Amino acid sequence: MEIESVSSAIGAHVRGVDLSKPLETEELEALRVAFAQYGVLFFREQTLTPESQICFAETWGRIIINRFFTPVEGFPQVAEVRKEPHQSFNVGGGWHTDHSYDVEPALGSILCAKNLPALGGDTLFAGMSAAYDALSDGLKKTLSGLNALHSSRHVFGDQADMPADIRERFGNAEKATQDTIHPVVIAHPLSGRKTLYVNPGFTRHFEGWTIAESRPLLDYLYEHASNEAFTYRFRWEPGSVVFWDNRATWHYAVNDYQGQSRLMHRITLDGEAVSA
Ligand code: OGA
Ligand code: MN
Repeated sequence: MEIESVSSAIGAHVRGVDLSKPLETEELEALRVAFAQYGVLFFREQTLTPESQICFAETWGRIIINRFFTPVEGFPQVAEVRKEPHQSFNVGGGWHTDHSYDVEPALGSILCAKNLPALGGDTLFAGMSAAYDALSDGLKKTLSGLNALHSSRHVFGDQADMPADIRERFGNAEKATQDTIHPVVIAHPLSGRKTLYVNPGFTRHFEGWTIAESRPLLDYLYEHASNEAFTYRFRWEPGSVVFWDNRATWHYAVNDYQGQSRLMHRITLDGEAVSA
């Protein structure tokens, strides 16, 4: 197995491993180390079925069944991330990290390409430990005392600003009641690195601050963290599988393939409470 880092902030390509088979102890150990170090692992030429994707996921932990996504038929553990030619809006088309609104946010997500547009539909990733490291000591000090509220309501709830053509892909709007407080800077559970833990998708405001008061500083952090220096753009191919750490990274699904379809299978893994 070969593991090759792709940028200084985030990501590594992994070659010479077949995820559809049970992993050798040494392979799993090498993947664990790489996952903690790089935040996102990219695999090519895989042949995962829903069954083998579930087996691979279960070697990392417990699967979370997402409340809002339509599952793959017969596999409640596997969410469909689908865009049809008639839909203009895509899932994940802005910087975010999955499930930060949960009290114990998801460890990671495993996304497997099933049907890709001829061109386009790349996914961007951003590394939040590198983004944190590049802040000034002054701002680091200010952030160290702050917590922020994360919520699912404005994204998946009844009041969410979601076009009708995508609403049909999501269910359980009435279950979008997760609000939780996390530190703005966490000690990453695997790497121990200080990591920026706010995201444009789900973070609402700093604890004890209004939304209006929070906006300028959050916007500053979002502008900073999405800088090219901390990001990597992944081009999917048939057989690509990506496994990202939701505590260490953000991701962004580029919506540049109007009129074509794209289907991915996602499994999300249970995490743990995060702390400063
Ligand atoms: C997701 C997501 C990105 C993509 O599945 O959580 O944001 O490129 N997907 O489909
Ligand atoms: Mn996502």
